[in-house]
Amino acid sequence: MDTTGPLTLLGIESSCDDTAAALVRGVPGRAEVLSNEVVSQAQLHAQFGGVVPEIAARAHAERLDGVVRDALEAAGEGLNAVDAIAVTAGPGLIGGVMSGVMCAKGISAATGLPLVGVNHLAGHALTPRLTDGVAYPYLMLLVSGGHCQFLIAHGTDRFQRLGGTIDDAPGEAFDKVARLLGLAQPGGPSVEAAARGGTAERFSLPRPLRDRADCNLSFSGLKTAVLRARDLLVAEQGGLYERDRRDLCAAFQAAVTDVFVAKTRRALEAYLALDPDEPVLAVAGGVAANMALRAALEELCAAEGVRLVAPPLRLCTDNAAMIAYAGLERFAAGHTDDPTLQARPRWPLDPTPAPLLGGGKKGAKA
Ligand code: KG4
Ligand code: ZN
Repeated sequence: MDTTGPLTLLGIESSCDDTAAALVRGVPGRAEVLSNEVVSQAQLHAQFGGVVPEIAARAHAERLDGVVRDALEAAGEGLNAVDAIAVTAGPGLIGGVMSGVMCAKGISAATGLPLVGVNHLAGHALTPRLTDGVAYPYLMLLVSGGHCQFLIAHGTDRFQRLGGTIDDAPGEAFDKVARLLGLAQPGGPSVEAAARGGTAERFSLPRPLRDRADCNLSFSGLKTAVLRARDLLVAEQGGLYERDRRDLCAAFQAAVTDVFVAKTRRALEAYLALDPDEPVLAVAGGVAANMALRAALEELCAAEGVRLVAPPLRLCTDNAAMIAYAGLERFAAGHTDDPTLQARPRWPLDPTPAPLLGGGKKGAKA
């Protein structure tokens, strides 16, 4: 078929704890979201303090049909308007990924529509092209509860990983710090709120890996340092005061921000060496909502003459519009998958560097 004109892709996402379907229409670099349905499983997992893979897989399998129907209805379209079906084929919790892949294969078999397997991380990484039409190459910082990496996006299927976390994702660290201090989940927004008016200088927390000449990050030691500081205060005072929580949150947030600024500076060096026409740093993921981090990155980008692009949160957190869009780019480039398409628990975007080990609450990190 002709893939040069506008294309309509149905996207399906089920790699973690969100069951999602969406319709996207357009061409690479200029597409619009016709619908974007997300059903969260947060309630189902809340009592377990993390995502339970078996519960997630079952819930995806039960909900996918309805979510796909909702996405078509919200767009006011039928399957006859769809050119191809894009589905997350990894990385992620394997049961959930399989549910999505089976659903997509079923629709493809019933309708004859082409199938396009998409890497979930490519979905996140290509979102700035969907929302802002950003041109290749751009630098991407993924920061969420499950991901943390710097990537240079050179093309639809060409990503260069500059570095990432060697242990926890930053969102996990925010969530754990909130738990340590008795603040509400998700931890990011409550730590950010508590940090307002706090005195960061009261505690001297480590800046893990900051001065190392690479783009890798680490958050687990920082979280332990907060635990120690808390325990010391409790031992000295018999408990924590409001002021202590504010200061500890401010100190933690300042340490995270410091490390990100240093590592982003390094990543920008590698990226700017490519001499891009319109340099862009795109940030995506729940942690990118943090205003302290965002302000620090704005300042750094302004100093380096780089445009900072931050897609709206609903397209930064897990969703199927990003999968439909990544599928659109792949399909437009002539890529389709046959019915043997496999679900993959791990699938690094850049196969060159050794994959980092470490699975967080959100499952496997690539
Ligand atoms: O991208 P996301 O919604 O979900 C996945 O990880 O898939 O990211 C969620 C994470 C949570 O860990 C949450 O605590 C964190 O993003 N987060 C924040 C803020 N808002 C959400 N972290 C720091 N500051 C925030 N304002
Ligand atoms: Zn994700």
